[in-house]
Amino acid sequence: MNLAESTFLRACRRQPVPHPPVWYMRQAGRSLPEYLKVREGVPMLTACETPDLVVEITLQPVRRYGVDAAIFFSDIVVPLKAIGVDLDIKPGVGPVVAQPIRDAAALDALRPIEPDDVSYVTEAIRALVGELGGTPLIGFAGAPFTLGSYLIEGGPSRHHDRTKAMMYGEPRLWHDLMDRLAGIVLEHLRIQVRAGASAIQLFDSWVGAVAPDDYREFVLPHTRRIFDGLADLGVPRIHFGVGTGELLGLLGEAGADVVGVDWRVPLDEAARRVGPGKALQGNLDPAILMAPWEVVERKAREVLRRGEAAEGHVFNLGHGVLPGTDPDQLKRLTDLVHEA
Ligand code: CP3
Repeated sequence: MNLAESTFLRACRRQPVPHPPVWYMRQAGRSLPEYLKVREGVPMLTACETPDLVVEITLQPVRRYGVDAAIFFSDIVVPLKAIGVDLDIKPGVGPVVAQPIRDAAALDALRPIEPDDVSYVTEAIRALVGELGGTPLIGFAGAPFTLGSYLIEGGPSRHHDRTKAMMYGEPRLWHDLMDRLAGIVLEHLRIQVRAGASAIQLFDSWVGAVAPDDYREFVLPHTRRIFDGLADLGVPRIHFGVGTGELLGLLGEAGADVVGVDWRVPLDEAARRVGPGKALQGNLDPAILMAPWEVVERKAREVLRRGEAAEGHVFNLGHGVLPGTDPDQLKRLTDLVHEA
């Protein structure tokens, strides 16, 4: 199979495909028994720093489901840990930061990243590209707002109140923080593409908490710098956040080639909001997979039908696979999309 002509890369480029390509955010991980087995006794960040494990875990969902793209097994906080930020991923909680960043002096913790800081990433990607053959590998990073939220709050947050306090109350400090993070994220993505990733996804998972005017002022310039800084590499740039219905046009404006849509906005409406020249990715509610197959089938066909309104459609869930998901449901869903 020819990588450049894979259905996934063609759909991202808005070229005709025999059927929509499909992959799932968080397709590797806690929903797979083979994942739980190899992760036994290995802390999450240790797994991310161990190329053999990263390769195995990245390949697991490709083997099981036959999805049209692999996503690199890692986490959005990996580049921050790599430059020395003291943080951990607590099971069932998420990233926790020992010394939250709340003033200008704390910014010194965020030095630029270099390839040597993440040599295990380069090593794992090189090995994966060989194993995957014609199946594209998606590299990824967290966007400055979402990373900033973890750094400022010190962990997961419901209302992002300290984050917004800095954004509104100390805009100079906010932009300095976003600027440093954008530099780190851009270089981390360039490292992944240079090692062989065929596309990248920038996760701004929590930016849906921000109103459009504030997004334009406090977030978009930094995201644009990242996307512009990848343009010369020629790989599709996917951008996704949860609850971003009111921001979809701006996510495209920031420079994404493919705009990820959560389950709250149907794809035909999302296509209107995003406008021409962009592909869409999404957007089956991941919780629907908990319902009987008949329901999944009906809802998935609806997503496929509405996705025809987009110039290119990459089938996905509206957010990550939930931990309790039955892998057989995802297998049937993958087959259904391939037969569409
Ligand atoms: O299969 C894949 O999608 C690749 C792996 C991947 C992980 N994290 C592995 C992981 C990806 C793409 C991410 C991105 C990520 N990490 C995001 C953006 C995507 C999204 O879901 O919006 C965010 C916000 C994080 C931060 C983070 N890391 C959270 C919220 C959690 C979950 C905490 C929990 O246990 O509920 C993590 C930990 C994490 N990252 C796990 C995995 C497989 C679970 C840890 C484990 O299995 O021990």
